[in-house]
Amino acid sequence: MTSFLVAMSVWWSGDWLAFQEARELAKVQGAHIQRAALLQTNSMAKETGQPIALEKNLAELGQSLHADAVLFWSAQGELTSRWGVSQGSPNLATPRAINSGIWIGKESGSRCLEVRIPLQGRMTSLGEIRIRKILPKPAWFNSLGRATTLAACIAFVVSWIWLRRSFRAIRSVFHSLERVGREDFCHRAAVEGSAEMKCLAKATNQTLDSLMDSSVRVQKVYVETALALARTVEAKDRYTSGHSHRVAKYCVEMAEWMNFDTERLETLRLGALLHDIGKVAVPDAVLCKQGALDDEEFDLMRKHPNAGDRILSAIPGLRDISDIARSHHERWDGKGYPLGVSGDSIPLEGRICCIADAFDALTTERSYKPAFSIEKALGIIEKDAGTHFDPELARLFVSLKRNQMAERPQIPEAQKSDPVS
Ligand SMILES: [Fe+2]
Repeated sequence: MTSFLVAMSVWWSGDWLAFQEARELAKVQGAHIQRAALLQTNSMAKETGQPIALEKNLAELGQSLHADAVLFWSAQGELTSRWGVSQGSPNLATPRAINSGIWIGKESGSRCLEVRIPLQGRMTSLGEIRIRKILPKPAWFNSLGRATTLAACIAFVVSWIWLRRSFRAIRSVFHSLERVGREDFCHRAAVEGSAEMKCLAKATNQTLDSLMDSSVRVQKVYVETALALARTVEAKDRYTSGHSHRVAKYCVEMAEWMNFDTERLETLRLGALLHDIGKVAVPDAVLCKQGALDDEEFDLMRKHPNAGDRILSAIPGLRDISDIARSHHERWDGKGYPLGVSGDSIPLEGRICCIADAFDALTTERSYKPAFSIEKALGIIEKDAGTHFDPELARLFVSLKRNQMAERPQIPEAQKSDPVS
């Protein structure tokens, strides 16, 4: 459409310039023809006093003025005689007066000059002689077609580039909005293309900024609520006080050794802090029981990973922490719970949390056992590597703790915990 408009504009501009050039030429030639024709027609009218031998007179007039056509209109407004090559309409198409008695119009598609000479008799008007001369086209006019085609091609290429940039901007906005549906507010639309596209992209980005701020606020509220719940669970039993914080500390130490990036490390820390949140669904009589649990009570306790998964999966954008809560009691050999998955099928963060959880349970006092020394706890973890624990992670954890002990004497960081950590 743009190409068509540009092509038409170029054509119209060229045609207008050609008309202006023809108009100037018509003024000069028209004045010359007018002067010469007046002399001849006046003498013709005086000699005869009436339009006699018109055909012969018109031919002589046309030849002497190098005209293309000569027409005679009677006083009654009828075309009575014509001479010359003009085969078109008796009247010029789109005639315009450019001077007194001098007109310009179109004859058979070409611009044509017409000089109108009234033929006056002694008493009355005899009619009007119209002398026509086809005006030559400007030399450059033949190139107008090529110029129009070239302009259309350039307009097409420019339009295509412009549209491509605009569509790219639209695609970018669409991509950003599509990701919002997946609760991903991080992508921003590219601010490019036309001014309207830039406004649209900026408005979209501002909306995404607001959504992201709201999401972060909601996420913080969820996390704070979950942490408060976790603290409530721990507060019910003197053995569990501080358990989650210690487990989180051991997890972070391992993750730092494993070069986790900041975001993944923070997810692991939060998951470890909340790994036992599902115990909020366990009856207090079981949770706070002194001594070993019977089978029925143990079955109730085994439900806490799934309960934690359900609670934490409601937190937007933090799906990974619910995986930690669900999988921290799975065993490498598949004999854990709640799903009984094994090996690499257990999320890495869950395997890390499992070791940290067990180490804290071993090194703190429980209702059914005293606190073990760090060396004894590490020995148990070494022994259970490949059965209970991921063997590689277990070796890494033992190595990490022994390095720490070599650097400074270690003491258990707490003395109290719960029967099922
Ligand atoms: Fe647990």
